Amino acid sequence: MEDLDPTYIQAPEHRSDSNFIPNQPEEIPVIDLSRLDDPEDVQNVISEIGDACEKWGFFQVINHGVPSDARQRVEKTVKMFFDLPMEEKIKVKRDEVNPVGYHDGEHTKNVKDWKEVFDIYFKDPMVIPSSTDPEDEGLRLVYNKWPQSPSDFREACEVYAKHAEKLAFKLLELISLSLGLPKERFHDYFKEQMSFFRINRYPPCPRPDLALGVGHHKDADVISLLAQDEVGGLQVSRRSDGVWFPIRPVPNALVINIGNCMEIWTNDKYWSAEHRVVVNTTRERYSIPFFLLPSHDVEVKPLEEIVSPENPPRYKGYKWGKFYVSRNRSDFRKLEIENIQIDDFKVKT
Ligand code: OGA
Ligand code: NI
Repeated sequence: MEDLDPTYIQAPEHRSDSNFIPNQPEEIPVIDLSRLDDPEDVQNVISEIGDACEKWGFFQVINHGVPSDARQRVEKTVKMFFDLPMEEKIKVKRDEVNPVGYHDGEHTKNVKDWKEVFDIYFKDPMVIPSSTDPEDEGLRLVYNKWPQSPSDFREACEVYAKHAEKLAFKLLELISLSLGLPKERFHDYFKEQMSFFRINRYPPCPRPDLALGVGHHKDADVISLLAQDEVGGLQVSRRSDGVWFPIRPVPNALVINIGNCMEIWTNDKYWSAEHRVVVNTTRERYSIPFFLLPSHDVEVKPLEEIVSPENPPRYKGYKWGKFYVSRNRSDFRKLEIENIQIDDFKVKT
């Protein structure tokens, strides 16, 4: 077997065979959103979404309104970009000032992921805090980076992102209703949303037993909407026992998952599941997640309507933008210490 650069090697308890039981009959729910057109079925769809958010923190949607041609156009153009020689790709490389664009060495929990990525802010420019210092109220603008080739890269991405964002808000409304809250309960948190979307390319890997495409992690956002191709490899850890389950590729479906912000807003009613990406020796895989993120000044803490004397807040609040800039530091290099995690805001009992 080929040798693998040690920076990619996962600890034994995190490798692809850990806690994975093949051929489990249970599946992550696939919800058909065209059922929302039938007034008699709307409430069922809402409760199925609520149940999935509670039990798995993951579900898939079909007939979701994101046109398949917009998706195929992005898939085609980003493949052309990733197939360019490295000297072309690094012209749009992520840097410390504008942490978007191309990147080939992200660390998840201090182990290198077997992937290349391209990140794009939904709002361009986007407003973020200028430092991690909680006392510093300064803000700065960050800008997207666009490759010159392929020439329709930017437009293809912008068109797709608009559709993904529209669906994200529709799902947010359904999630809000599933919690018994008004449909637009969360909307004010997104006036200067920091949403971004990412293109992940996972090349074939000589040692999928040792490396992962993305190491186990929770998404820090509100909800994520992920388009995956037919190769497969995404796995989710079941809330009840931590066993890993594959997320079966369903043509044209989007995989939806709950991020840390929603978990905190609901005081742990809804679950932000750990997930990871297993790679393979023969086939490259693409995925395109859209991460819905609040504005920098939003204080993320359990919602007042949800907490009560019987259900006291399990988290202290934190400012979203400050968390984001602190967290992002580790993308550039291996940190000597564990990076900041949501659990750092848990109320100690
Ligand atoms: C991510 C992620 C999963 C995938 O980028 O946060 O979990 O299937 N990706 O690419
Ligand atoms: Ni993720």
